[in-house]
Amino acid sequence: METVLTGDPLTAAEFIRSGQLCAFPTETVYGLGADVFDAAAVAKIFEAKQRPADNPLIAHIGYLEQIASLSKSISADAQKLIDAFFPGPLTVVVLKSELVPPVATAGLETIGIRMPRNDLAKVFLSACGSPVAAPSANLSGRPSPTTWQAVYEDLSGRIGCILQGNDTKIGLESTVVDCTGEFPMVLRHGAVSLQQVQAVVPGARFSAFDESASPKSPGMKHRHYSPTARVVLISGTSEHVGPSESAYIGITEPGFEPVLKLIAADAEDYAHWLFEFFRECDRRGIEKIYCEEVSEEGIGAALMDRLRRAAQG
Ligand code: TXA
Ligand code: MG
Repeated sequence: METVLTGDPLTAAEFIRSGQLCAFPTETVYGLGADVFDAAAVAKIFEAKQRPADNPLIAHIGYLEQIASLSKSISADAQKLIDAFFPGPLTVVVLKSELVPPVATAGLETIGIRMPRNDLAKVFLSACGSPVAAPSANLSGRPSPTTWQAVYEDLSGRIGCILQGNDTKIGLESTVVDCTGEFPMVLRHGAVSLQQVQAVVPGARFSAFDESASPKSPGMKHRHYSPTARVVLISGTSEHVGPSESAYIGITEPGFEPVLKLIAADAEDYAHWLFEFFRECDRRGIEKIYCEEVSEEGIGAALMDRLRRAAQG
């Protein structure tokens, strides 16, 4: 299959309308979309990404009225989060409607809904006719794509279209909040911090993922965010002499000379560059990447979560 590249959101939306896959930019990472109500189209996402079938997808909307078709009931807490953070880098998990086929939610009775805050995404999603089921547009197990070129690298020849937008602003995936239980549960850290969620729904808490228990957010048990290179976390104070074939990313200068180095201005800038830096290291065949740890405030919690996962991979 030839993958069409276009900068035109209406051309891209035609692929979704005709049951094909189309990758598109958001403010977090690029997504790989299909019509959420078209079971055959959604199944193609799992095939193209080689994604495990037990990992549910997030439904993306272009305007708030689309929520009614996805969910049969929105709790008061879910509504508060929608009012506070849509459009933005936050996914709300609610009870799904009958219209959503089981393949989209990996058989769960719940569905994650997100409205991206990105002008191109908004025009594209509003033109698709239905909400768009989309995971990150990478091959399963690879770092999420933050540029259209990274999508092309992983999925060229496997999907119908890539909507070419700018590099994504945030660079890490959305905060996921499950609103179907007794308390709102933050299942995945993102740019919206736990403190910001709690300011809107005070009962919210973080559900530490327990490998032994059945995961609340099934995606969390799968290998994620990992470059081929080995990732080693170091703190700013540790005296480290890296081997010559190593790379470094962090906010402070390392105490050694790596072959590739990225010094970010702050935690936001670090998050913005992380996945692209991982990919660049793989392109260059670098074997080891030293990553500086950051304090877990603001986006720091999401950044440390991704860094720890990459170091485990
Ligand atoms: O920022 C993002 O969220 C990006 C962009 C494209 O929107 N999407 C993304 O999708 O990161 P994905 O599929 O790579 O990650 C979705 C996460 C997974 O950990 C998945 O298990 C969880 O959200 N999730 C999706 N639906 C869920 C549900 N109904 N209940 C619990 N967790 C859910
Ligand atoms: Mg993903």
